[in-house]
Amino acid sequence: MRILALPGDGVGVEVTEAALRVLDWFRTRRGFACEVLRRDFGLANWTKHGTMMPDETWARILEADAILFGAVGSLDQAGVVPPEERRKGSLLRMRKALDLFANLRPVRMPAALAEASPCKPRVTEGVDLILVRELTAGVYFGTPRGVETLPDGTRRGVNTHSYTEAEIARAARFAFALARGRRGRVTSVDKANVMEAGALWREVVGRIGAEEFPDVVLEHMLADNCAIQLLRAPRRFDVILTDNLFGDLLSDAAGAIIGSLGMLPSASLSAPDAAGRRRALYEPIHGSAPDIAGRGVANPLGAILSLALLLRWSAGRAEDAAHLEAAVDRALAAGARTSDIAAPGESVLSTEQMTQAVLDAL
Ligand code: NAI
Ligand code: MG
Repeated sequence: MRILALPGDGVGVEVTEAALRVLDWFRTRRGFACEVLRRDFGLANWTKHGTMMPDETWARILEADAILFGAVGSLDQAGVVPPEERRKGSLLRMRKALDLFANLRPVRMPAALAEASPCKPRVTEGVDLILVRELTAGVYFGTPRGVETLPDGTRRGVNTHSYTEAEIARAARFAFALARGRRGRVTSVDKANVMEAGALWREVVGRIGAEEFPDVVLEHMLADNCAIQLLRAPRRFDVILTDNLFGDLLSDAAGAIIGSLGMLPSASLSAPDAAGRRRALYEPIHGSAPDIAGRGVANPLGAILSLALLLRWSAGRAEDAAHLEAAVDRALAAGARTSDIAAPGESVLSTEQMTQAVLDAL
């Protein structure tokens, strides 16, 4: 397997380093055969070398079996990076080029972190859901898009929310198949009441569910209601299927249940090719966190749990993945805390110490 590490910017570098240490454990102790390459890109690279995405890095991206991604500091406060360069180094470009249409975000509440959550323990206890967000269509990609000047001199901003039946269908099939290996329940989220594309979404998901996955329980839910139910009764969800925009919002809302962005992993997958191989990018959901970058205090668990997803989805090593997830739980149960998940008065570990705690638990 060819694994490409793209640490990128800010804490992306620190947490990817942590994930690579854990990956090394699986190579030496579990015989996981893989070749790991590490390449620069991002804002820091622009500052140093005048490009956000070196051509050589892009070539490696296109041929990697799996990418371990850190973060890109896409907010360019000074506005110095030309738009063309920003697009070259953007995550959207990678998602589109690799056709990563299925974004998975598992949200599991570790019992030890009940206190870190903004929700009451009786609400969060046992939460174990996974959100499937369609990632390559919808309003982030639809055309026409842009800002135009009207005849009266004022401006109009336009984006287009668009989904073909095929784009809906492949996301739906992914979610149904995933639910089969879990508790057999899909909640499909849309705004069918006000959006034509949402009504089509509901129709296509309903048809595929009835015809191809009659054993999976399907419910439809409006996106605004879903936002409420995620906070009121998150345990009721197994697999949540939704589009690109609602998925962006609802996956962050679902993540908030856990209490820190630093805890949450994600996987972005393409359809399998003829050989059954999926393109894949794994990343913690947080960004470059400029407010804490460079201090060695970032929580590495989101990146480490992203590695567990890589083991499961790209390497076919489900047992190793479960072993790693259990090790993270054990480290937390034993009291290991970075500052973002520590309760007042609890002692706090650095990024490196938390990584060591996971290695010890392994
Ligand atoms: P952020 O996710 O970087 O940080 C939000 C808050 O969470 C901050 O207070 C930060 O300190 C904290 N946080 C994030 N990761 C943490 C970790 N591992 N451990 C402990 N605390 C953590 O989001 P923000 O501040 O909105 O964006 C910063 C930069 O990151 C921007 O340039 C943004 O565009 C970019 N970004 C990149 C993403 C990506 O590469 N996929 C995703 C989100 C934002
Ligand atoms: Mg987001």
